[in-house]
Amino acid sequence: MKNLVFLTGAGMSAESGISTFRDSGGLWEQYPVEAVASIQGYERNPQLVQNFYNQRRAQLSSVHPNEGHRLVASLQDQYHVTVVTQNVDDLHERAGSRNIIHLHGELMKATSSRNPNDTSCIVTLPKENPIIKMGDKAKDGSQLRPFIVWFGESVPMIEPAIAEVSKADILVVIGTSLNVYPAAGLLNFTNPHCQIYLIDPKQVPYNPTLGIHHIMKGASEGMKELCDILKKT
Ligand code: OAD
Repeated sequence: MKNLVFLTGAGMSAESGISTFRDSGGLWEQYPVEAVASIQGYERNPQLVQNFYNQRRAQLSSVHPNEGHRLVASLQDQYHVTVVTQNVDDLHERAGSRNIIHLHGELMKATSSRNPNDTSCIVTLPKENPIIKMGDKAKDGSQLRPFIVWFGESVPMIEPAIAEVSKADILVVIGTSLNVYPAAGLLNFTNPHCQIYLIDPKQVPYNPTLGIHHIMKGASEGMKELCDILKKT
């Protein structure tokens, strides 16, 4: 079986009704990124940051995977599929993808504010009330915080992601502006025989020497076109 790796970003979930970050009207236009997505922002005003992610979780319970997520999962029958996602939502899981690397954490999980990468402190929040309150404690006694990789923090899942991308026969990049590192740098770890596809309705800056096939469509329509292309190859 060929190794098929997806690298997905906010555009993957846009058709499910979750805002992207950098498009016009995106989340970072409404909320200052340094206030809600940096470790300094959390240290300055933890309650504001908890409220922001509590709201994101409430929104997540009202949205569903889109056709794009479903088509990604459907390819598991023919390929060894790994999904490397920058998204903190759980829509790939809910669409049936089994092998998922979350580079930037998971919205439905909480962790220690003393040592966010201590796996023994990571807990899944209850679906019916996925709220973190100030005063809620992690196993190590520190304040529970969202299990999100903020700007200024290390990205421990980048190593397993690099390992998967280096083995990929096919890499499909969907809905990411490739602005945020180290995720954006993953394309440079492909081997020379890897075919690279990009699904995004807009131009995205990438290294032209990589020979990327750009399908200039949204995630669902783009995934339909990709499935047709893969059937013929
Ligand atoms: P961005 O908001 O930077 O980029 C979203 C991309 O999705 C853009 O290239 C859009 O053109 C594209 N897009 C929009 N609608 C689409 C659709 N229907 N189908 C396919 N693509 C579409 O989001 P990311 O690149 O994911 O990190 O952002 C990377 C990281 O920056 C996020 O994980 C987040 C953010 O700060 C953290 O919060 C740590």
